[in-house]
Amino acid sequence: MQIVEHIRDLRSARARLKGRVGAVYTMGALHAGHRSLLDCARAENDAVVATIFVNPTQFGPGEDAESYPRTPDGDLALMEVAGVDLLFAPAPAELYPSGFQTSVSVDEVSQGLEGAQRPGHFRGVATVVAKLFNLTQPDAAYFGQKDAQQVVVLRRMAADLNFPLEVVVCPTVREADGLAMSSRNMFLSAKERRAAAVLYRALRTASDAWEAGEREPGVLREAVRAVLGAEPLVAIEYVAVNYPESLRGVLMPTGGPVLLSLAVQIGRVRLLDNMLLPRALNTREGLTQALGAPLV
Ligand code: PAF
Repeated sequence: MQIVEHIRDLRSARARLKGRVGAVYTMGALHAGHRSLLDCARAENDAVVATIFVNPTQFGPGEDAESYPRTPDGDLALMEVAGVDLLFAPAPAELYPSGFQTSVSVDEVSQGLEGAQRPGHFRGVATVVAKLFNLTQPDAAYFGQKDAQQVVVLRRMAADLNFPLEVVVCPTVREADGLAMSSRNMFLSAKERRAAAVLYRALRTASDAWEAGEREPGVLREAVRAVLGAEPLVAIEYVAVNYPESLRGVLMPTGGPVLLSLAVQIGRVRLLDNMLLPRALNTREGLTQALGAPLV
């Protein structure tokens, strides 16, 4: 694995990669969810380029990029074992030199859900990913289902700005009790960690209702809220049912697919999770079709 920190070195190393190139962009603190993206990229491409960059512009006021978890030694070992060919790990000034003043804003799909809770977050994500698309020039870029809105925003951006690449979505990887893998899980106390299993139970309860024929969005949301509400350590931020392509809220019963998503706070940790309904769509193919397929 070649590791580069500077754009000039990345450009020359990228030019030497042959064939179809898959990319995985990360902020480090890697876990099994990242590993599954890397495995997918490795299996489907001739070469894999990855990045580690804690992007300061996607953190809002009160959210501290400095306190984002960092596990550099473990990250490098995981990237190596996963068969990454080229790793770009720049310092902030490399991507945002003094005088930097351009941003990418994706309007409608950035507004609800996470965008409503974290103003400016998706501007930061879209800006850095546009730069990383330009710098790494992948044929396919791999993203995780857990950040479903991020995928929808980036798919819209790729279409609108004519990036010639495929957006691939890989299913959320879960702990044995269903908790979605996240770099932030390490901040949960033992008691909070046990409580966090309720997120997946709540999604499963609503998806069981869907599989039994329930289609009323309000009933599905209430099913999630009822399960979450029984866990005293959980403070609900939102529970939502949206159309996966537009992220518009579902107001009437529909045959699907729909994206059921939630955000909660447990102690000082903010956790997200989601599921496509029907449940059978939560595969690489189903997710990529529903959230990442090219827009025409
Ligand atoms: O999903 C993430 O880890 C980040 O939002 C990304 C895509 C690496 C951009 O900073």
